[in-house]
Amino acid sequence: MSSRTPDHPVDPQFVSRWSPRAFGPAAMTEAQVMSLLEAARWAPSASNNQPARFAWGLRGDAAFATIHDGLMGFNTVWADKAAALIVVASKTFVEKDEGRAPNAWHAFDAGAAWMSLALQAQAMGLVAHAMGGFEADKLGPALGLPEGYQIQVVVAVGVQGDAAALPEKLQAREQASPRRPVAEVAGHGKLPA
Ligand SMILES: Cc1cc2nc3c(=O)[nH]c(=O)nc-3n(C[C@H](O)[C@H](O)[C@H](O)COP(=O)(O)O)c2cc1C
Repeated sequence: MSSRTPDHPVDPQFVSRWSPRAFGPAAMTEAQVMSLLEAARWAPSASNNQPARFAWGLRGDAAFATIHDGLMGFNTVWADKAAALIVVASKTFVEKDEGRAPNAWHAFDAGAAWMSLALQAQAMGLVAHAMGGFEADKLGPALGLPEGYQIQVVVAVGVQGDAAALPEKLQAREQASPRRPVAEVAGHGKLPA
């Protein structure tokens, strides 16, 4: 996979993780979902506020249908084959004596939780694909999202399947993508543009 040759020595889990859209028929258990959420909850967060929240469903159950119904069309066409759908939301505020204060890091911390979840999925022989393409106005109310919380992504999880089963347009995109070189994104004492 030439597009995934690391510039520097790194644990292979980071380079081999990618986001397929083709899922196989294998189902997932609730216990497997709990392992993914277990990984997510150990993610670090600012002041250990732990703003990430999750809602999940397994293919075939009502929760899965609700979450799937809240996806945008370009995601519904493939995410219906996922074995589980997991919504990652975040609490945007913290409680203070004087009332609510915004938590500037809620989305950053939810992102850390998603990455932990994705790497745990990989360690379990599963694949995870995050989607920002959801209808917040529909999905939030359907899942009882409290005021002051935001949905960040919906994650499709399952066993990787055969790309040939995808709609033709998506088949060409079913491959691991490249990254900018470290030298382009990191500077010694200077932030690159
Ligand atoms: C916050 C976020 C939102 C994303 N939204 C979508 C989406 O709505 N639909 C989709 O097919 N992929 C989505 N992706 C997948 C990205 O396109 C993908 O992670 C990126 O191209 C890097 O590829 P890789 O994960 O295979 O390494 C999203 C990923 C992230 C992290």
